[in-house]
Amino acid sequence: MTQANAQSKRDILVTSALPYANGPIHLGHLLEYIQTDIWVRYQNMRGNNCVYVCADDAHGTAIMLRAEREGITPEALIERINQEHQQDFSGFLIHFDNYYSTHSPENREFSSYIYEQLKKNNHIATRNITQSYDPEKEMFLADRFIKGTCPKCKSEDQYGDNCEVCGATYTPAELINPRSAVSGATPIEKESEHYFFRLPEFADFLREWTRSGTLQPQVANKLAEWLDAGLQEWDISRDAPYFGFEIPDAPGKYFYVWLDAPIGYLASFKNLCERRDDLDFDHFWKADSTAEVYHFIGKDIINFHALFWPSMLHSAGYRTPSAVYAHGFITVNGKKMSKSRGTFIMARTYLDHLNPEYLRYYFATKLTSNVDDMDLNLEDFAQRVNSDLVGKVVNIASRTAGFVTKKFDGQLGQVTETEKLAEFIKAGDEIAGHYEGREFGRAMRRIMELADIANQYVNDEEPWVLIKDAERAADVQAISTNALNMFRLLMTYLAPILPATAEAAEAFLNARLDWNGRDRLLENHAINKFKPLMSRVEMKQIDAMLEASKEELPAATGDRATKPADSRADGVEPLADEIDFDAFAKVDLRVAKIVKAEHVDGADKLLRLTLDIGDNQRNVFAGIKSAYKPEELEGRLTVMVANLKPRKMKFGMSEGMVLAAGPGGKDIFILSPDSGAQPGQRVM
Ligand code: MSP
Ligand code: ZN
Repeated sequence: MTQANAQSKRDILVTSALPYANGPIHLGHLLEYIQTDIWVRYQNMRGNNCVYVCADDAHGTAIMLRAEREGITPEALIERINQEHQQDFSGFLIHFDNYYSTHSPENREFSSYIYEQLKKNNHIATRNITQSYDPEKEMFLADRFIKGTCPKCKSEDQYGDNCEVCGATYTPAELINPRSAVSGATPIEKESEHYFFRLPEFADFLREWTRSGTLQPQVANKLAEWLDAGLQEWDISRDAPYFGFEIPDAPGKYFYVWLDAPIGYLASFKNLCERRDDLDFDHFWKADSTAEVYHFIGKDIINFHALFWPSMLHSAGYRTPSAVYAHGFITVNGKKMSKSRGTFIMARTYLDHLNPEYLRYYFATKLTSNVDDMDLNLEDFAQRVNSDLVGKVVNIASRTAGFVTKKFDGQLGQVTETEKLAEFIKAGDEIAGHYEGREFGRAMRRIMELADIANQYVNDEEPWVLIKDAERAADVQAISTNALNMFRLLMTYLAPILPATAEAAEAFLNARLDWNGRDRLLENHAINKFKPLMSRVEMKQIDAMLEASKEELPAATGDRATKPADSRADGVEPLADEIDFDAFAKVDLRVAKIVKAEHVDGADKLLRLTLDIGDNQRNVFAGIKSAYKPEELEGRLTVMVANLKPRKMKFGMSEGMVLAAGPGGKDIFILSPDSGAQPGQRVM
């Protein structure tokens, strides 16, 4: 028995941050869910009782406004997004024991209960505050919903709290010519009563909690800074209209989305406990619980999880988290994810082109226990996966399995390399330590060292030479038995990262990958025929994914941009900004004759159009393949923006843009009636 499995079974509850229900899952999110899923799978492999819950974060102004724009109820919107999120997560082999929603009866009950406790303990204050208000839409406006001219540098069209051009920070009242991003109306100032959580009361508690090993060193330092600077009361109420839970004793006031979001962890777990006899809510959450609770989060939401949340739990009489584990942000090819570079990659787009286990492995090679940002370099990604997983690990099996099947009737013999295999078994303890400490990169490096040893062993033995010699046949069976046992141990250590390949390896080896029982080697054991376990990543798959991500760009088809990379709960997709007439007059709209329309190899949505505008012809890519067959287009008239700066796309230069109407899909309309207009004629 190894040290680790001599310990008793731990009860562990793990969460990831609850993704907002107002947008799709992208690769940045996935870093977190993959990291958490790996850790949870590791814990369960070791025999611990580890449960993983999550939910959609369904409340807030942004969701309310988006539902309104789509002409549906917020409930219908969050239901649809919840389905999409769950499909994305399962596509990446992320397994939740429960995936719920913060808009649930359990969450309403816990939120009210916790609020009542805070009030009883005199931790809630009320006072009037003055805020910007949209008199047309009759709603209060958070800073992000106000736009105007920067008071410092006079740049137009800046948000109400900071200027993206000169970096100045200010209050919305200081903006020149402020207006509501929701309706365009000029905001007025209005007073209303707000509810506050009295966070400063918890300064001493937090100082101690911070020091008790619950936080990573970088995070603890940050927290100490905040504590030294002095804590502020936290505004937990919002006025109607708002999509959320009404505060029990305050009609027309709602809990701020961030009040009930972390309570969603409790609610999702409670909902699971109701279905599972082996789980007891109180055992995990009572004040003196011996169970462990971990929250995996991104570094941007540390204040909510390390200041407000433990204080709320403490006041309400629950236990506090055993630890909060924050990770950094991902960049793609060294830069912030960007729509125009095609590096703002949605989970769905990735899955359309690549195997989810590639990304799980690549993230694992780069994950550490600290909060540093991480780069997803796509060339490095392809190279790592190909050389490590395909070239090293799977290769061990593909080089030896054939002999066993063809020459030894699928039977393994006796292990002869006991010393080498003992090293492989022993390394499991070290690798376990890396997993436990969230040093996945170290775990992967150790596993690949072992894979090198295994491949070197096969190289040195040259079974493909020996097999030609009838007298040496038994040696080939032993070599294959040794190598396949090495392979099995490597796959055991990789199982938390590669759950699907691990399953396929179990089927091939006709044996479980059992971490705790890994010292029982496979000898005189029948295996199944080997099928290739994983194929190489091709650069062309990656290029196609990037191109598809560019295609996701809002075309001139009425599609709206998805939320910006940094939009938060209060963020809103502003309605199109107004431009003045002069700006509009600069747009050169021309009648164009479609002289040629063709499919573009490798593009899912694009057609290539050759447009004649009288004095010259233009090559334009348009995202209209879902609506038109090329042959329907040739010879017809459309309207194009003729002075759009040419844009280099993967398939060539696009020299302009065609105008379109319609909701998208089959309903995109680009043709103008054949009215006798001449190509090149200016429109308007
Ligand atoms: N709804 C809140 C969390 C509430 S938890 C009680 C939220 N949602 S989010 O959708 O914006 O982000 C979900 C998680 O994904 C967060 O932990 C966030 O840090 C993480 N990430 C979002 N974009 C990311 C990257 N580009 N890179 C790494 N993690 C990222 O915050
Ligand atoms: Zn400015």
